[in-house]
Order: sequence, then C-alpha cells, then structure tokens
Amino acid sequence: MRFGFIGAGKVGCSLGKYFACHGKELSGYYSRTKEHAKDAAEFTGSRVYDTPEDLAENSDIIFLTVPDARIAEVWEQLKRGNVEHKIICHCSGALSSKVFSDVTDTAVYGYSVHPLFAVSSRYDSYKELSKCYFTIEGAIEYLPFIRELFIEMGNPVGTIDAGAKIKYHAAAAVCSNLIVGMIAMSERLLTDCGFDAVSAHAALQPIVQGNVAHIAEVGTVDALTGPMERNDVETVEKHLMCLKDDEKAIYQMVSREVLKVARQRHPDTDYGRMEELLK
Ligand SMILES: NC(=O)c1ccc[n+]([C@@H]2O[C@H](COP(=O)([O-])OP(=O)(O)OC[C@H]3O[C@@H](n4cnc5c(N)ncnc54)[C@H](OP(=O)(O)O)[C@@H]3O)[C@@H](O)[C@H]2O)c1
Repeated sequence: MRFGFIGAGKVGCSLGKYFACHGKELSGYYSRTKEHAKDAAEFTGSRVYDTPEDLAENSDIIFLTVPDARIAEVWEQLKRGNVEHKIICHCSGALSSKVFSDVTDTAVYGYSVHPLFAVSSRYDSYKELSKCYFTIEGAIEYLPFIRELFIEMGNPVGTIDAGAKIKYHAAAAVCSNLIVGMIAMSERLLTDCGFDAVSAHAALQPIVQGNVAHIAEVGTVDALTGPMERNDVETVEKHLMCLKDDEKAIYQMVSREVLKVARQRHPDTDYGRMEELLK
C-alpha cells in the first residue's frame, strides 16, 4: 500500500512523516505550491508529483490534506481521472466522507480520518502524533484496514457516524480553541490588574498546565476547585461586579457549565443561590 498526499501543509507533512517513521511506503506529494511539495517529499523520503492525477496513479491511498474548503474541488478534479479502486481520505474534523460524491459510481472508497490534535508544525508535530486519537468514518470495505493501520502504530482509534461529525468537531473546538479564548481573556484581566503581557502569560503557565494535567489524571469532577466548587456565592458575586458586560456574560455562561460539574461533585449541596446569580 502506497500512501500519497495532496496538500503539503501541516497535516500532510506530519502524517506522511509519521507513516514513513512506521515503515509505511509513501508515493509522495502534490501541492498547490511545488516548492512545498518538494520540501515535503524531501522531509519524508518520497517523490514530488506535477499533477494530482500523477500522484493518484502512483498511490493506493490518497490523503487530501488540503483546507476543508478545498476538499470538494480537489476531489472533483481527481475523480475526472482514473481513481478506480483507490482509497481516498481527508482529515477534516467537520466534514464527513460524504464530501466524496459519486464514490460508488467510481468504485472509490472514501473516508474521513481526523487526528484529534492541534497539528501546529509541518516539521515537528509528527513527533507528537503517537499520542493522537484518530476518529474515522467512511465506506465499510476498508474501515477495518484503516482502523488497524493506526492501532498498529499505537494510536487509539474511534469510529463515528457521518451525521455526528459537526457536533464532534464542535466538541473538539470547545476543548481546544475555546480554551485559547478563555486563556486570552484571563491574560487580559491580569493586564487590567497591572501585569505586563509577558508576565501575565508566564504567570498563568503553572495553573493552566497543572489544571490540564489534573483533569487528565482524575477527570473533570474530581479536578474541580475554586469558588463554584466551594459554593462561595459572595466571591462569585464580587467577580461579576468587577467584570465588564461581555466578560460578565462569558463568566456567567461558562460558570453554568461548571456548576453542573460542581453538582456532580457535591450532590447534597444546595447551589440554588449560585444558580440564581448565574442566570
Ligand atoms: N492543523 C490542525 O491542527 C488540524 C488538525 C486536525 C485536522 N486538520 C485538517 O487537516 C486538513 C489540512 O489542514 P492543515 O492544518 O494541514 O492546513 P495547511 O497547513 O493550511 O495545509 C494545507 C495545504 O494544502 C495545500 N493546498 C491548498 N489548496 C490546494 C489545492 N487546491 N490543491 C493542492 N494543494 C492545496 C496548501 O498549499 P501550499 O502548497 O501552497 O502550501 C497547503 O500546503 C484540513 O482538512 C484540516 O481541517 C487540521
């Protein structure tokens, strides 16, 4: 099985290198910018192709590691050539394999193979992929093969229904991108208190990292600390008084979710006053 990549960006380079490191045979890369495809081919010890059709011809599994908005159009181009009996994958979290229209007519097997991970670097992220959970979905024929491919490399793998992909992607955004927003807000509040931007960023590192490590270790319910967990209504009241309108709304909305966790931790505590405060 030869793996080919269309799109020599962060995920294309990282996944290709990860496969190569695990002894998989790579055909190589085609990308919008030939220089990027060349760099990726060099990085992974594979070849560069001048057209997506050439790459497809020389590959058994083709990963479309282009931005989500480009997947359908790259597929439209690809399917005009000879892709019969090829396995075709994309890595989008939000899109399902249904983006590969007409796969049954063309005898192609389509999949979404999503690394549930922030792949931030073309050349370094592959080192972290051994920890990554992969969520897969698509045609029944090669689903066990794709599953085994990742299990063999030591990755946890889950399957998902095509119809659940958008909510699944929203879940991923909540635990990663939305946390970025919360930390940015926290840094801004610290600068309001007199910290400069650098020291605000540095000061938050131990609490953020400690919190994430604790959640990973014991789960959200047992990791919860703070005024919500202690049912400290007076402190939360003071927090709300010192925040600006938008910040107050965010604090209240997210705290309603935190309150659900606190209630699981202390089912016998009366959180009625707290609930009123967060409305
Ligand atoms: N990054 C993440 O954290 C992450 C995590 C999970 C899933 N994903 C998914 O992985 C996929 C790729 O994301 P990414 O972060 O790797 O994006 P990226 O770094 O922006 O890379 C996209 C690559 O696609 C190439 N490209 C764009 N349009 C093209 C076209 N029409 N034909 C051929 N190549 C084209 C780009 O061209 P150049 O040759 O000009 O560079 C670029 O190298 C997306 O579906 C994304 O949702 C990303």
